[in-house]
Amino acid sequence: MNPSLAKFMLRKTPKEILDPKPTMNTPLPLNTGASIPALGLGTWQSAPGEVKKAVSHAISVGYRHIDCAYVYGNEDEVGEGLREAFASGVKREDLFITTKLWCTFHSRAEEGLDLSLKALGLDYVDLYLMHWPCPMNPNGNDPKFPKLPDGSRDLDKSWSHVDTWKAMEKLPSTGKVKAIGVANYSVKYLEELLPHASVTPAVNQIENHPYLPQQEIVDFCKSKGIHITAYSPLGSTGSPLFKEEGVQEVAKKHNVSVGCVLLSYHIARGSSVLAKSVTPSRIEENKNIIKLDSSDMESLESIHKKKGLRDLSILRLALTLAFRTSSRGPFFLSARKHYGMPS
Ligand SMILES: NC(=O)c1ccc[n+]([C@@H]2O[C@H](COP(=O)([O-])OP(=O)(O)OC[C@H]3O[C@@H](n4cnc5c(N)ncnc54)[C@H](OP(=O)(O)O)[C@@H]3O)[C@@H](O)[C@H]2O)c1
Repeated sequence: MNPSLAKFMLRKTPKEILDPKPTMNTPLPLNTGASIPALGLGTWQSAPGEVKKAVSHAISVGYRHIDCAYVYGNEDEVGEGLREAFASGVKREDLFITTKLWCTFHSRAEEGLDLSLKALGLDYVDLYLMHWPCPMNPNGNDPKFPKLPDGSRDLDKSWSHVDTWKAMEKLPSTGKVKAIGVANYSVKYLEELLPHASVTPAVNQIENHPYLPQQEIVDFCKSKGIHITAYSPLGSTGSPLFKEEGVQEVAKKHNVSVGCVLLSYHIARGSSVLAKSVTPSRIEENKNIIKLDSSDMESLESIHKKKGLRDLSILRLALTLAFRTSSRGPFFLSARKHYGMPS
């Protein structure tokens, strides 16, 4: 094309087309050729009696991505919320539903999937994730959280997360999953997995927020074509992130809520993000994704440095020490702390 014509067309093209504003449903590409909506509704700790309404309300106000898991123990109620949405005219193919294989099912991947599908009332999920790379004893003293007599987690040392992945690779051909992925994978675990994988995970779902940017794993996944989904982006229940000055300043600058900044941060990084709420007004507030500029991102990215978490090696050291001395991790490692997972 004539260069002056190209310049003219560029000048006349509206800014929204050249540099589109992200929205809650901006489709982010996966290595399968499908895409994942930028914002998903989380359902961890969404209590019985609340989660059906949360799912149904979220879909009615425009959410198209719902994150579930067998271990959350509420997939039957999530399914009721989905059925309410379908009855209102929403089509299955308009939704992106994720669920996860729990640790005591690593050697029974299809069985774990079938239990989730049955509870959700679905024929397929869009994404099936290995919840943690930690197989647990399927015949232990508890179906979900088996423990050894000394109180530590009863891990299944005869089975490896690579074996689990090989079993998961067979699932897309059953038609019951569109894509498979992992969660809570560090670089070390991915380096163990990838040489044996004939399917590259579509997604790695990890805890991610300004206190825990996890740049190393984010960059590694990007280099391998693995999409990142950020969980606990608000810092989970009772989070100190809402009082964090650096986040409050960015929120003030854009005249939006702190929650909105914390969610938009991931979309600016190219990740999708999951926000859990059972409160209708918050479910609506969290939809307001905005475009953050480079100075906002610099401010948000400087937060963890100020906190002394200069790089992941320091974080790892903190984690290792925390798990050696107690079964609880640092305050912000909510899911790991909750499940008592080894580091
Ligand atoms: N793969 C994994 O291992 C893993 C681990 C953890 C989480 N996840 C997924 O990620 C999702 C999100 O993470 P999360 O549940 O840990 O935490 P989160 O979404 O960071 O935070 C949820 C908490 O923030 C509150 N909240 C929501 N919106 C708010 C707002 N606008 N203003 C103030 N407070 C607000 C919620 O309260 P109300 O509900 O009372 O409104 C809830 O207490 C989970 O639900 C789950 O689906 C995955």
